Amino acid sequence: MRARAWFGLDRGSVGAPGTGLTATHEYLAAERPIPAVNSLRVDFRPPNHSAWPRCGARTAATRPLVATAVGTISEMSAQDRPTPDPRFAWHPEPELIGIRDAGASRAALERLGHEGWATALDYVYDEAFRRAMGEPAGYDALRRTFFGASAGDQVAGPAPAPVDPAPSGDLLAEFRHRLAPHQLSAYHPAQLSYFTPPPLMLSILGELLAQVSQQGVDIWHAAPVGAFVEEEVVRWLTDLVGYPTPTPGDPDGAFGILTSGGVMANFMAMALLRDVHLPRLAGLHEAPRGRLLEGARIYSSDQTHFSIARALDELGFPEDTLRIVPTDAGFRLRADAVAEAIRDDRTAGLRPLAISAVAGSTNTGSIDALPELADLAVGEDLWFHVDAAYGGAARFSPELASRVAGLERADSITVDPHKWFFQAYDIGALVVRRRRDLANTFHRSPEYYRGSDTGEAAADDPDAAMLNFYQHGMEGTRRWRALKLWMSWKHVGTRGFARLVEENVRVARHLARRVADSDDLDALPVDPPLSVVCFRHLPLGRAGTGGLGEDGMAELDAHQDRLQRALEASGEGWLSTTVLRGRTYLRAGILNYMTTEDDVDGLLAALRRLAETVVTSRVPPAGP
Ligand SMILES: Cc1ncc(COP(=O)(O)O)c(C=O)c1O
Repeated sequence: MRARAWFGLDRGSVGAPGTGLTATHEYLAAERPIPAVNSLRVDFRPPNHSAWPRCGARTAATRPLVATAVGTISEMSAQDRPTPDPRFAWHPEPELIGIRDAGASRAALERLGHEGWATALDYVYDEAFRRAMGEPAGYDALRRTFFGASAGDQVAGPAPAPVDPAPSGDLLAEFRHRLAPHQLSAYHPAQLSYFTPPPLMLSILGELLAQVSQQGVDIWHAAPVGAFVEEEVVRWLTDLVGYPTPTPGDPDGAFGILTSGGVMANFMAMALLRDVHLPRLAGLHEAPRGRLLEGARIYSSDQTHFSIARALDELGFPEDTLRIVPTDAGFRLRADAVAEAIRDDRTAGLRPLAISAVAGSTNTGSIDALPELADLAVGEDLWFHVDAAYGGAARFSPELASRVAGLERADSITVDPHKWFFQAYDIGALVVRRRRDLANTFHRSPEYYRGSDTGEAAADDPDAAMLNFYQHGMEGTRRWRALKLWMSWKHVGTRGFARLVEENVRVARHLARRVADSDDLDALPVDPPLSVVCFRHLPLGRAGTGGLGEDGMAELDAHQDRLQRALEASGEGWLSTTVLRGRTYLRAGILNYMTTEDDVDGLLAALRRLAETVVTSRVPPAGP
């Protein structure tokens, strides 16, 4: 085999056995091609990890990417190479596929691990802390960069599937050069976007171990201990939201299931209230479908996550099932407004079915008035769902927990650990007050799961039955999501989570204070309920803005959009925008445990500087 390679290493040595070719720091730093050789071997003398990032940084400046193939087995000389499994000889790296024999494959896999982890760390330190949003910024520019241009200068579009194998080094190189520089960075301290936290490193490790062990937590046999880890994590979550500790064997005790995220958890919660609560109210013996879903009413505010309305739609409820009730000045749903809506609906012969509240809304972090809504739900015999995808994490902190008081009174609760539990994507959860509600809704017994089926007894005696998570939720084969949360929770502890969450809230308060103290900024709401701060830049100052007419306000909205785009292009930070009471705001969701007050000050300084550069047609205040 003839190999050509380029290297840009500061340390390490390159040798080509059989050719007498060796390369030293000086030779490599010149980044000249190593002449074609028969085989090539790259050695790093431990501890040598510092060589890897430099390798990436240097080679980024030049090209042919083979540099990151350093050390891959395909480039080792024949005599150094263990005999690979001949069944996989069609591949340049048979050792990475035929892994059955440790002697033939373990060294190669360890090298792959080093290379993969080095690539990951190069991403973190060379890219993720460098820019909040990769470059080029903007949809069209990045699409062109990623897909390239075809004849006629059109974006080429997705390439066909690869037919021939490629060495792993090429793929890592492609990640480094084609993907890594162009991403939204979850790590950058001024990236305060949607709920996009940096993942805890132990969560990443848990994810890796879960993937290596390939447990499918659906039927118990497919993940025997995985099911128990999920059961344990679920117990931690039900404790966290404040449900009573379940007694073993009690089908009415608290339980839950991990999901792909908050959307799926909300979907399943809506399925529960359809299949458990509606039959109870309507005196039905079967889960209602079709026309039996007509006339039901579910109450929530306009701050409710879109997934609630979509779930109701997909579950067959008519469009007017979700009744949006106005919120108070702090974007909170209040019981008196819901009670009034319920009264009207009962008078009209409709059937109030549920209240769907939010604890930590996406837009502002607002928390509905949970205790009074819980009272109302009990009084009116309604199901009470709380979407605490974001705000549920406040329960970690004794200082913040009272902000989500009343959560424990819900029938079902969405929590979403890949938000404020700083988990690697993806992991959400639905927790429920009564375990049997999940089983009653989702229990099925397909023939191919014979032997693990626990039959009808499952719903009544869960501890006597095997724990088959597929019978408690929507999914079939499920990743072992619990492991990363289990490991990272043990690593930082509940106290550690509390510290991280409290620090975000402290930084959010700092931002809100800075806004309140500035004449060219204003926030809505003025006091952030948790760690989301929505604010606007006012080029005309507060007094000047007060006099604006509708055209001027529309221009002010457009100004926020321009500012958002300018910030994105600068790479200095990233904020999303949202609409509150009909006006556009920049939205900072502070879920990065590395973000400091100084970072927030730096972000405001960047915004002010960029505001000078974005084109603002200063519409004069409306006349009297
Ligand atoms: C309040 C709330 N609920 C649900 C969701 C959906 O969560 P996911 O995107 O994890 O499915 C979000 C996402 O931002 C959210 O903010």
